[in-house]
Amino acid sequence: MSTLVYRFEEIAPRPLRSEVYELDGISRETVEAHYKLYQGYVNKRNEILAALASVDLSAANQVYSEVRALKVDLSFAIGGIKNHEIYFEHLGGGGGDPTGLIGDLIERDFGSFQDWRTDLKATGMAGRGWAWTAYDWDEGRLFNYIGDAQNTFPVWNATPLVALDVYEHAYFIDYQTDRASYIEAFFANLDWGVVEDWAQQYQITA
Ligand SMILES: [Fe+2]
Repeated sequence: MSTLVYRFEEIAPRPLRSEVYELDGISRETVEAHYKLYQGYVNKRNEILAALASVDLSAANQVYSEVRALKVDLSFAIGGIKNHEIYFEHLGGGGGDPTGLIGDLIERDFGSFQDWRTDLKATGMAGRGWAWTAYDWDEGRLFNYIGDAQNTFPVWNATPLVALDVYEHAYFIDYQTDRASYIEAFFANLDWGVVEDWAQQYQITA
C-alpha cells in the first residue's frame, strides 16, 4: 500500500470574542448557531486531512475519484474556516466610517465610504454566500469580490479584509428573507480597528 504523504496537525476552532455575542441587530441565537457551523468546518478539515493521509494510491482509478472528492471537500471546509474567522473577528465594533490606512484605501479605491458600502451591499445581494473586500496585490487596490460558496470564487494573490456572509444562516432567524436589512446590521457592527490591524500587518500601502 502506498499512501499520500501528508503532514498535518489537527486545528481547533478559534473562540469568539465576547462582543460578538452582543451585536446590535444580529442575535446571540444567530451567532451561536453560526459558530456551530464554523466548528463543523474545522472538524471537517481535520477529518478530510486524516482521510487523505490514508488513501491507498496503489488502488489506481478509483483512488482518483476519492482524491477528487476529498480535495474538493477540503477546499470547501478550509474556505469555510477562513471566511468565518474573518467574519467573526471583525464583528463586535461600532461600524461607521473607517479611519487610518483602511479609510485611506477605501476612499482612494471606491471614491467614498458610501460608494464602498453601496458596492459591497450590491455584491452581497447578488452573491449566494459571500462578498469580500480584498486587497489585490497585482492590481494594487481593493475590490469587492463575489462568492457563491465557501470555495467560490477566491482570486489568487488577493487578501480579504472584509468578509460579508450572506448565506441565509447568517440572518434568517433575525430577518427572515430580508437580506438587505441584515447587511445594514453587518455594517453597523463592523470593528474597523480589527480591519485596520490586518491592513497594517499585511503592510498594504495607500
Ligand atoms: Fe456562515
